Amino acid sequence: MAQSKNIVWHDSKVTKEHRHELNNHKSAVIWFTGLSGSGKSTISVELEKELYNQGVRTYRLDGDNIRHGLNKNLGFSPEDRKENIRRIGEVSKLMVEAGLFTLSAFISPYREDRNEVRELMEDGEFIEVFVDASVATCESRDPKGLYKKARAGEIKGFTGIDAPYEAPINPEVTVDTDQQSLEESVETIVKYLKAKGYLA
Ligand SMILES: Nc1ncnc2c1ncn2[C@@H]1O[C@H](COP(=O)(O)OP(=O)(O)OP(=O)(O)O)[C@@H](O)[C@H]1O
Ligand SMILES: [Mg+2]
Repeated sequence: MAQSKNIVWHDSKVTKEHRHELNNHKSAVIWFTGLSGSGKSTISVELEKELYNQGVRTYRLDGDNIRHGLNKNLGFSPEDRKENIRRIGEVSKLMVEAGLFTLSAFISPYREDRNEVRELMEDGEFIEVFVDASVATCESRDPKGLYKKARAGEIKGFTGIDAPYEAPINPEVTVDTDQQSLEESVETIVKYLKAKGYLA
């Protein structure tokens, strides 16, 4: 990829710290990872509503939405999935710089790709939330009918069926949607944010 050598970073006078003061809260990316149908989008939507009600500034980045625009030239090969996550990581970083809690909900099946996003961020700015649910549960929910298509061979390389999912080893938060209700999952995450001083 051609890259210009003549690019120089230009600093702002308004920093991330200024924005934190203005907003009265810190900023970080809350990175949801898990199988399709595990509940990443559902939980992130409810969490965002809860944070909004508490006066917290947020922005939600979600798989299908991003693939409609920014990443519409990418598919689901391992390379494209990697580039998908890399771009989302960079966008998440910009949003965190802008003082927002960024709720990113992508399957993001590869540990290495998620860890690269973690590396982009400063310490404490990457909160990995493992949305855990068995393939059997996700398949029985099948909210988009994708498992059915994958089983029928209409979708190749579907995570959990014929492509791997690498669960996080040390996530900041795990929610088990086989066991926990939606409300309990949201509460688990809000408690974590409060316990770690992200929110007042
Ligand atoms: N305890 C639970 N927590 C979250 N979602 C649940 C729970 N129980 C049932 N569901 C249902 O499971 C489905 C989860 O779908 P959702 O679209 O949120 O998954 P996703 O992880 O975003 O999948 P994808 O990667 O395909 O976008 C929804 O239909 C939701 O209503
Ligand atoms: Mg989703």
